[in-house]
Order: sequence, then C-alpha cells, then structure tokens
Amino acid sequence: MTAAGRALDGQVAIVTGAGRGLGRAVAEALAREGAAVVLAARSRQQLAETAAAIRSGGGRALAIPTDVTQDAAVAALVEQTVAEFGRLDVLVTAAGAASFGPVAGTKPADWDAMLAVNLRAVMVCCCAVLPVMLQQRRGTIVNVASVAAQRFIPGAAAYAATKAGVVAWSRVLREEVRAEGVRVGVLVPGAVDTPLWDAIPGGPDRTRMLRPEDVARAVVLMVSMPPGATLEELTLLPAGGIL
Ligand SMILES: NC(=O)c1ccc[n+]([C@@H]2O[C@H](COP(=O)([O-])OP(=O)(O)OC[C@H]3O[C@@H](n4cnc5c(N)ncnc54)[C@H](OP(=O)(O)O)[C@@H]3O)[C@@H](O)[C@H]2O)c1
Repeated sequence: MTAAGRALDGQVAIVTGAGRGLGRAVAEALAREGAAVVLAARSRQQLAETAAAIRSGGGRALAIPTDVTQDAAVAALVEQTVAEFGRLDVLVTAAGAASFGPVAGTKPADWDAMLAVNLRAVMVCCCAVLPVMLQQRRGTIVNVASVAAQRFIPGAAAYAATKAGVVAWSRVLREEVRAEGVRVGVLVPGAVDTPLWDAIPGGPDRTRMLRPEDVARAVVLMVSMPPGATLEELTLLPAGGIL
C-alpha cells in the first residue's frame, strides 16, 4: 500500500510482547500501516531489534521495556505513550507464556507465572488504556487468546484456563464500552511458529503452523475496520495444518 493510503496513519498503538514471536510481527505490520508503535516486553535487546526493524522500514517505534505483570509498569507504559504521542488508538496484548503438562502431578505454583502474564496482565493492560480511549471515544483493543480456549487439548488445562479467561473478560468488557466508541476484539490463533515452541520439546511440526505474519495480518484487519464495524472474535487456524 502506498504511504498516502495507509490504514493506520496518524494512529498510535501499544503492542505487548513485541520483542519476538507474533507480537513482533504485529508491531511491524501496524507500523507498515502507518501507526506509531510502542513496543513493550521485558527484554531490552529484543525490543531494540524490533524498533530497529520498524525504523529501517521508515516506521515509527518507541521501545519501553515493561514487565506487564507489574501494575505500576503498565501504568507508566500508557502514561509515557500518551506523553510522547498525545493519543492512543490501539492496544494489542500479545505478551504471554505457555507451559504444558497433565493436571495430575501439577503444582499450583506452576500456574502462577502463566496466570499472571496471560490473564491478569491482559486485564490490567485493558484497564490502563481505557481512560484514554473512553476520553477519545475511540480505540481498539485486541487481546490474543488461543484455540486452546475452544478445543480440548490434554496437557493444556492451565494454559486453556488463562485463554478462556481472556475470551470471557473481553466479551464482558466489550459490552461495557461498546456504546462509548471503544472496540474490544479477541484473536484466537491456532499454533504459530514462534520462539514459544523452542522450550517445548517434542511439540508439533512447526512447518505446519501459522506464520507470525499471518497473525499480524489478522490483527491489522481487526484494527483497521471502519469505526462503525467491529471484528469481535476471529479464529485463525493453519489451513490443512495442526491446531
Ligand atoms: N505460538 C503459538 O502457537 C500461539 C498460539 C496461540 C496463541 N499464542 C499466544 O500469543 C502470545 C504470544 O505468543 P508467542 O508465540 O509470540 O510467544 P513468544 O515468541 O514466546 O513471545 C512472547 C512475548 O511475550 C513477552 N512477555 C512474556 N512475559 C512478559 C512479561 N511478563 N511482560 C512483558 N512481556 C512479556 C516476551 O518478551 P520478554 O520475555 O522479553 O518479556 C515476548 O516478547 C501469547 O499470549 C501466546 O499464548 C501463541
């Protein structure tokens, strides 16, 4: 698309988990569509790499190292974004983690980190951007869930619970802010070939997964719908591949 006709010109987006994986692809795609993108994750080095990739393509990026499980850090992320760019149009919550194993023998402490980043942090990020979006009477939130919330995959109970929580949270929040001009969408991807799978030995065939760029394309679609239309829930699966 030419620079003159980009879908997100003049808009400002925060992408959590923008250092690698699908969050990075989303951040790069939003920038290509003209958005100024604020990149949030813990690894400074990875954020710097994403920012450099965006800038080398002529886009605008601001890296703000953030642990999204820290409420004060999330508040600061939004404050800095508004201070720098004067507005906030898009939030994509792609920060997340996955660990798998059967429920029998699992220790509750194994769930805590995943619950904190996959569910509570999503809720905190939404709360942090809402005052700005409501005041603007404009904004789009895309929360990244997973097909694990819909299909029952043995070994994924705790992960599925976090993602089902994201779906339920998004559904209720959507109804609360719908009339105020704020859209809340949920993206439900199947397996995506990202570094998330590096730590999961014996996982599925990565060549048959979605590419991060596929996910980015879906997010661009969700956030660039005309203001009068909302893509509320989008399930994206590898065609002919695995979940
Ligand atoms: N890959 C898949 O098959 C798949 C499928 C469906 C849904 N998803 C979901 O998509 C999201 C992204 O997954 P991915 O595959 O892209 O994973 P990934 O490659 O491991 O990337 C995860 C990103 O989240 C960031 N992150 C993790 N904990 C964080 C924290 N406490 N604060 C801030 N950032 C944090 C990581 O950066 P730092 O570690 O530097 O903080 C990294 O940038 C997750 O919610 C995942 O559940 C993935």
